Amino acid sequence: MCGIFGYLGKRDNALEIVIKGLQKLEYRGYDSWGVATDLNGELFSHKKVGKISEANLDDFKDKKVKLAIGHTRWATHGGVTNANAHPHFDPEKQIAVVHNGIIENYQEIREELGKENFVSETDTEVIAHLIAKYRKDYSFKEAVLKAVQRLVGRYAIVVLNVGENYLIAARRGSPLIVGVGEDEAFLASDIPAFLEYTQNVNYLDDNEMVIVNDGVEFLNLETGEPIKKRLVNIDWQAESAEKGEYDHFMLKEIMEQKDCIHRAINQDTDEIMHIAQQIKDSRGCFLSGCGTAGKVCMAGEYFFSIIAKRHVNFAPSSEFPVYHHFLRPESLLIVISQSGETADVLEAMEAAKKKGAKVLSIVNVEGSTIARQSDFSLHIKAGPEKAVASTKAATSQMALLLLIATAMIGELQEGRRILAEVASKINDMLNPRFLTYIKSVAEKIKDQENAYIIGKAENYPMALEAAIKIQEVSYVHAEGFAAGELKHGPIALITEGTPCISFVANDEVKQDVINNTMELKARGAYIIGISPDNHDVFDEWIKVPDVGVASPLVNIVPIQILAYYIAVLRGLDPDMPRNLAKSVTVK
Ligand code: M6R
Repeated sequence: MCGIFGYLGKRDNALEIVIKGLQKLEYRGYDSWGVATDLNGELFSHKKVGKISEANLDDFKDKKVKLAIGHTRWATHGGVTNANAHPHFDPEKQIAVVHNGIIENYQEIREELGKENFVSETDTEVIAHLIAKYRKDYSFKEAVLKAVQRLVGRYAIVVLNVGENYLIAARRGSPLIVGVGEDEAFLASDIPAFLEYTQNVNYLDDNEMVIVNDGVEFLNLETGEPIKKRLVNIDWQAESAEKGEYDHFMLKEIMEQKDCIHRAINQDTDEIMHIAQQIKDSRGCFLSGCGTAGKVCMAGEYFFSIIAKRHVNFAPSSEFPVYHHFLRPESLLIVISQSGETADVLEAMEAAKKKGAKVLSIVNVEGSTIARQSDFSLHIKAGPEKAVASTKAATSQMALLLLIATAMIGELQEGRRILAEVASKINDMLNPRFLTYIKSVAEKIKDQENAYIIGKAENYPMALEAAIKIQEVSYVHAEGFAAGELKHGPIALITEGTPCISFVANDEVKQDVINNTMELKARGAYIIGISPDNHDVFDEWIKVPDVGVASPLVNIVPIQILAYYIAVLRGLDPDMPRNLAKSVTVK
């Protein structure tokens, strides 16, 4: 949540570079934005409510500066106003700060520094005021060190001080990456922001600070001691983080799924076998994640149960810490996350570690906090996922869990074969005719206020996931249920024409799901069947390939497309749904 960006280097269009970088971070927050620089010894800033993608670069062309900072906001403290947009300043306008995170003790610091001196309602403004206070007696570097030592909470900050030709950044709990180019450096919340300039990065860890001037210098935040960091080369191409021929990232990422599944299963055999063995050796294995990643975990529960005959417990990460009573050193926690930065997941990991349990992570962003804080991490290699709605990451994560389940019973090669077939069938499925048909279904239901989705066994989690997809991008009230649960209450919601989506796989529960679908139809529901075979009960039939136990991977794809088209047809931007952000770094 919130994207921050800082540039210092040889180019004299720093403001333009920062704005363009922030546009690539817009998925992290899009309420408002702002930039600041030192313009001939005076602080220049510009803040605006609205999306940074709407910024006019021409407004900044005449400002020739080699250093700038900027921010794209997802509001936490204080409404969406120009005053609350970052950067925030000290009263003398000498210090400018951009921040991603939450400062928990900001009220106390505000009182101490005099509430009347603050112009915003944010927690961030206290950072600028604190630095300015220490700056009276200390160097810029020392003042930042002293200020951050006072902060309680999570933060990634970038600070500029008028008259000082360098930037300082610090992190505790929120992501911050340093891109290192030739005679220039970039400070950003995520790699795509600077990928067109450099692929060489340093990951800042918690309690670390970086000073960017002629080079980059890393320090420990608590002791001020220098730290050596390893420069990592990222193999993402700049184009992979661009929309290319597509109108939206969401559609692009849906279409990429066939390739992503291939990449996800192309893992080192020893690593997969090692993980399979760890699950087998554990006493109490838990799967945890949030939102879509949580639904992937639930699908994983079924894969482990059906394929490996092994019970694994799922808990949403925000609930997981409650499980600490059950955790012990022999427990294993497997966390799943696209961004690798989700605060609730990090908290779940902390709870597990406190009890001496091992943590394994499955993430998309290599080098992310979750990856680095795990005992062992697998990278799903889906490439940058920019749309807020998770699509390709989810199917890749499911592919990996299914692969691990097959490895647990010594059938890894067979697992690979099944999943390669799934990838190729998804490829066949994603043809223009398929998309046009789903768009026609979207046309029919786009004005409905409610939609319900049912599934059973490994497709029950997909019913829940389908609801998330529809809710978050189209704002239609959608709910997913275990097919057999409807008759215990929710069926009262069905009226004439209510769209109901039913996942009917060719599995042992097929007839049960058909029966439950008929119960809906008898109450007037408009049935959209997702199934390899047609059935009389369906009003619309979206044909999917028959892939056995891997059915969740193919079943969710048409729903992603349906959600996308409903959003577009309702005139919404599916890439940036209201109130949401791609990476949820607050609890
Ligand atoms: O980055 P993560 O996978 O940890 O994110 C978890 C959820 O915030 C995420 O899946 C969210 O639910 C998506 N917007 C759903 O499409």
